[in-house]
This record gives sequence, C-alpha cells and structure tokens, in this order.
Amino acid sequence: MNSTRPNWTSRYSFILASIGSAVGLGNIWRFPYIMGKYGGAVFLVIYLLLILTICFIPLLAELAMGKTLKKECIGAYESINPKFKLLGFLNPLTGILISSFYFIVGGWIINYIYLSFINYKTADYGGYFSSFIQSPMLSILFTLLFLFICIFFTSRGIKKGIEFANNVLMPLFAFLLAGLIIFSLSLPNANLGLEYMFKPDFSKVNPEMFLAALGQALFTLSIGMGALLTYGSYIKEDKSMVKSAYTIIFSDTMFALMAGIMIFPAIFSFGLEPDSGAGLVFVTLPNIFAKIPFGNIVSAAFFTLLFCAALTSGISILEVSVASLTERMKISRIKASVILFIIISLIAIPASLSFGGLHNITLFKKSIFDFLDFTTSNILMPLNTFFLCIIAGWFLKIKGSQFINNKFFAMLFDIGLKFIIPVVLIGVLVAGLK
Ligand code: PFF
Repeated sequence: MNSTRPNWTSRYSFILASIGSAVGLGNIWRFPYIMGKYGGAVFLVIYLLLILTICFIPLLAELAMGKTLKKECIGAYESINPKFKLLGFLNPLTGILISSFYFIVGGWIINYIYLSFINYKTADYGGYFSSFIQSPMLSILFTLLFLFICIFFTSRGIKKGIEFANNVLMPLFAFLLAGLIIFSLSLPNANLGLEYMFKPDFSKVNPEMFLAALGQALFTLSIGMGALLTYGSYIKEDKSMVKSAYTIIFSDTMFALMAGIMIFPAIFSFGLEPDSGAGLVFVTLPNIFAKIPFGNIVSAAFFTLLFCAALTSGISILEVSVASLTERMKISRIKASVILFIIISLIAIPASLSFGGLHNITLFKKSIFDFLDFTTSNILMPLNTFFLCIIAGWFLKIKGSQFINNKFFAMLFDIGLKFIIPVVLIGVLVAGLK
C-alpha cells in the first residue's frame, strides 16, 4: 500500500465531499430541464425507480473498490488484471470529456452572478442568453475562469483544497436552497408546479425515457466515472459503507427534488413553459427574477447556489485525473493540474464555440457540446458502470457480506452486481440507442 497517499480527515469529510460530488449541475440545471423534456412527473417516477433499484449496488461497489485497492482508477483496474488497464483509463477520459461541457456551464453561472450584482435587466433573456453563449471571447473567458477556480482547489490537495471547499460551499448551498424554496412556494399558483412534478401521465412512457433517466441517475450520483472510486480510495476507516452509500444517494435525491420544488412552482406561477431545455435556468428563471421585487438579490442567491454545487462536483471530476496523473507519472498536484487545465481547455474551447462559430460542425447530428453531454452520460457512464460491476463482482470478488449483515440482502447485492445490473445496463443502453 502506498503510504504517501492522502486520507480524509474524518468519515464526515468523506461523506460531505461525496455528496458535494453528487449534488451539482446534474441536480439543479440538468435534472429540471431533462424532466421538462420528458414530460415531468412520469420521468420522475422512472428516475426514482432506477435510483432505488439500479444505482445503490454500483455506487457501493465503486466506493468499496476504491477503499479496498487504495489506488487511482487506472492502477486500481490494472491491479486486478493488467488487461483491464484500458477500462480503468476510460474513467479519467470520461471525466475529461464531462469537464469540457460541465465547465462551460460553470462559466455561464459566473457570468449570471455578475449580472445579478450589476442588476442587469433586459426584456429578452432568450436573446441575451443566445448572444452570450455565441460570443466566443466571453464564453471562453468564463469557462476558463471556472476551470481555473476548480483547478485551484484540486491543486491544493485533499485537506486544504477539496475538504475546505466542501466544508464551506455545501452548507452555503443548503442554506440558499432552503431560502429559495420558501420563496418559490409562496408565489401564487405554486401548486401547478408541484402538480407538474408529482402527477405522472404514464401514456408518455417510452424506451428513450429509460435511457435518459438512467443517464441522469448515473450522472447525478457520479457513478461510472471513477470519482467515487477515487474518493473511496482516500477512506481510512469506514465501518458502515452501506450507510455512507445510502446517505449519498438519499441526499442527492433530496437535493434534486428540492431543486425541482424550487424551480417548477416559480415557472408555473409566471405562466412559463418548463420544457425550454438547457436554457431553463438561464432564460426562464432570469425572466422571473426580473419581474419580482429584489429580483437581483434572489438571482444572486440562485446563481451562487448553482456555483457552489457546480464547483464541488467540478472538483471531484478533476480529482479523478489529478489522482491518476500524480500517482502514475509521479508529478506534483500543481503540475498535474496545469496539464489538465491545458487538456480540458483544448476540448472545452471548441465545445464552447459550438454555440457560435463552430455551430456547423456536428457529430452524429449533435453539436460538439450536445455530443459531449449525450455520449458521456448516456453511453460512457452506463458502459463504465457495466465494466465496474463485472470487474468488481467477477474478478475483484467484492461480496455483499463484506458490508451487509443481513444474509438475504447480502445475497441480493451479489446477484445484482454480477448479473442483474450488468444486464439491465446493457438492455437500457441498447433499447435507448435504437
Ligand atoms: N454528479 C454531478 C452532478 O450531478 O452535477 C456531476 C458529476 C460529478 C458526474 C462527478 C460525474 C462525476 F464523476
């Protein structure tokens, strides 16, 4: 075992950082707009079903693999069998591809915090948003700024960087979220938003919806990209891995639901539509903020909340590659962070330009940005999770009885990890891509 590897200060720090990784743009930006795209409550039902049935086992297995092997992703897979090295490498690769679009949205958030502070108002937020994301200079500048802030924290290490960021940002996030939910629910006709979220119309169900819900569930829980494996590898002692896994899943799901409860009542209260896609929080919400008293303060609170969530997740996405680079190449965290800054910029810049100058370039009929979002959450993360289950179950031979006292549930874990989850993952992937 490598004695120079860092460890979390406490179990609390590990859980907080893992919740910080899980709760991010996936909960507040992606979840409401994907839910809007797939018809509201019916998507929520499928999503919750997948979270409860499919996600617990791979999440626990990923954490356990990290804790058992105490290595970064590539080394962890390689130590089980040198042939698995490439599969291990898919994890940081997925992370780099995710960061390339995740950090663009992070950049948009910084711009919107700035707009709230200068109390910028316009009659046409849709027009503003498109001209902003099409402007090459501004969107690249803000993307790189967000990337730089995340890199700053990862370069400082586990205790001074990652733990510090989570200890400060997560409570601030929860506080702002609670305040904004109270505000949203106090608006007239808030109940229409709640109905949209909680009254399902099952006639809208289709296979593509399952793939979208699976992609969203894995993305929001940070499963299948090595973040949990890496965070798990810094655990010194955790007597109840099951409890940790539940806490992460429960908190992430609660935060996603709360984000919906914050956003949908406000949208319906103003008679707006919830299906405006990726622009939902950047067009529809600013429209509302402009119409209410002290709207700039509410707007600043909302975008700061989004910033906190994005930052703690962005840090975890980077940490996967920082850990791989430092441990494999034996370089410092600062050097690894600089290398990553360069690599991610090289992908993020064209992705950012895909809204403007490069909008003609398409990959499988998708813009570079949409292609990165779709392939990472709907293809690479399910595929990585499939390999994770197979390798953890069949080769590393992780057993439910290692962490679950109840014999029946331990057996369910084993069957799920080795058979059910891999089959379901491939089934949903194939059906959804048809
Ligand atoms: N779970 C994060 C979110 O919901 O925004 C995104 C994410 C973080 C995905 C870390 C993957 C990951 F490894």
